Amino acid sequence: MTTIAHISDLHFGRDLQPVTEGLLASLDAIQPELIIISGDLTQRAKTVEYEAGQDFLRRLQQPRFIIPGNHDLAAWNVLERFAYPWRKWKQYVAADLEPMMQTDAFIAVGVNTARRMGWYLDWSRGRINRRQIQYVQNMLQQAPEDCLRLAVAHHPFWLPDSSLSRHLIGRREEALQGFRAAGVDLILGGHVHLAYVQPLEGMLVSHAGTTISNRLIPGQPNSFNVIRGDRKVLELEQMEWRGEGFEPITKQFFQRTEGGWQPHVDF
Ligand SMILES: [Fe+2]
Ligand SMILES: [Fe+2]
Repeated sequence: MTTIAHISDLHFGRDLQPVTEGLLASLDAIQPELIIISGDLTQRAKTVEYEAGQDFLRRLQQPRFIIPGNHDLAAWNVLERFAYPWRKWKQYVAADLEPMMQTDAFIAVGVNTARRMGWYLDWSRGRINRRQIQYVQNMLQQAPEDCLRLAVAHHPFWLPDSSLSRHLIGRREEALQGFRAAGVDLILGGHVHLAYVQPLEGMLVSHAGTTISNRLIPGQPNSFNVIRGDRKVLELEQMEWRGEGFEPITKQFFQRTEGGWQPHVDF
């Protein structure tokens, strides 16, 4: 059995110090094998925010796996946004924008779905391209059958009706088809600052809320998720900030059948 912590949308610049300390204490107690961070490390991609993000990453005791989000691109500095959009990310966070990590228990592949611009006014929207879909497929192909397969992208492949105005990721259908063919078990994301788990075409889409920032939407406290299990059975636990620390709120169980992942109620 593996244990993976999934945190997201830290938004340094809008981070809450007590919540950050609570998160680190919680992670120390959980001792995950890996900490996945699904984008929006900063609020406005400012140097001071990247420095704060780097300090935080250095404090993590476990291996980490991090991809960028739309907020990690400069919003107002046009030259930076278009000429060298990921220079700060590479300087302060990681050389690789699309990491891959494999152990005996799992394989995780990340894609960068933030875009410098698009054919629409809202440039916070994200997109996956064909090279990235192929990249996920290529990486997963080499994994042993019993290896849990995770694809990590900042933007959502599924949204509850109440959040559809946030837009699903571009080229979603083609990506889902490719992911399914590659045997993806879990698609992890953030962006909407909303925590949910949704079975989708035999896979599980799981989003973490904003874990430590004050960019909260009504009714959604700071949160993160803990994934426990293997390629047969998974437990997805949601941890919520309750003023003095993170506490477990819900646990959902899933089992993998011939048709893919389904809710399991007999635990
Ligand atoms: Fe965000
Ligand atoms: Fe975002």
